[in-house]
Amino acid sequence: MKKLMTDDRHFIGNFEVVDFIDDERIAKVRGRLDVASPMNVRWNDWEYGSEVAELRALYEKGKRNQWNASDELNWETPVSKDEWVGNPQASQLVTILQRMGASEATQKAALFDEMGYVVSQLLHGEQAALQICGQLTNACPTTDEKFYAAQQTADEARHTEVMARFLGEKMGTIYPISPVAKQLLDRLLGADGYHKKTLGMQTLFEGIAMGVLDGLSSQMTNPLFVDMVNRVKLDESRHAAFGVLSMRRAVQEISEEERQELEDWAFEILEALNANQQLAMLRELGPKYGIQPERWVKKVLSLEGWNMFNSYLYMHTVMPNLKRLGLVTERTEGRYRELGILSDIRLE
Ligand SMILES: [Fe+2]
Ligand SMILES: [Fe+2]
Repeated sequence: MKKLMTDDRHFIGNFEVVDFIDDERIAKVRGRLDVASPMNVRWNDWEYGSEVAELRALYEKGKRNQWNASDELNWETPVSKDEWVGNPQASQLVTILQRMGASEATQKAALFDEMGYVVSQLLHGEQAALQICGQLTNACPTTDEKFYAAQQTADEARHTEVMARFLGEKMGTIYPISPVAKQLLDRLLGADGYHKKTLGMQTLFEGIAMGVLDGLSSQMTNPLFVDMVNRVKLDESRHAAFGVLSMRRAVQEISEEERQELEDWAFEILEALNANQQLAMLRELGPKYGIQPERWVKKVLSLEGWNMFNSYLYMHTVMPNLKRLGLVTERTEGRYRELGILSDIRLE
């Protein structure tokens, strides 16, 4: 297993972080807009009937649950940094600012900013999903998968549309993509073969998105925002289900060597994502509030029970699904545990 982004790593205590600190380097990563992507375009072997009943059912469900972001959301709802947009307890920035003795007005503004930052990252992820699903429509072998991927492409266009509008019209800022996320999404977009593309986007990133969206829908209170998140979440749960259904079939068909390659590939991506901790967000928003990113990450890493709360996002959907697929074995399980990605936390 190789480590990704080795040039951008250093240690905080004995934890190795991926941390982009040089502005020129960050600009270069963000400015790389063209991604080469090897892909076999595949005909369906002239079988137009349904071969995979579960996928066809998911497609039917998707057709029934389409929604129009332009006229089904109440865009008149105000979103203001002078009001609490959600539960302050759920915010990293607010937690830090409370310890620093910041005023309530500052804390409200920080929660607003953090929400904007998180949604901006989701937005960039939605664009990646839009592009990957277009690729999957080409690369998948069966009609059911093609129908499904085409439908998801439309879902992801809607998510990109709705989040860009929410950020632009209601919050006023779209934050730039985290350089770590950019590197990892480029890796998915440029991956060889539809197995890696499906595993990377549909199982790993959709799974992470499910965890993030669930957190947002339970902790945020602005009604327009919650309505948007709940609608997106409903779509994303179909997407994560597709990831599991199609990978379950794929894993049965591949060799042990190919299975190990997928196991390693998933590990490398999750390791690098986890290695950033909250550094990208703290580097973006911290200076405005006098927060020193490394100092706080060091503090968080030394908290008792760190691995349990750190693993929450991964244990929500990603790790249970990877385990179910047989892509976490004794080769990787111990390392996932060491890194605080896998734990015995129980989520309902
Ligand atoms: Fe999406
Ligand atoms: Fe999705």
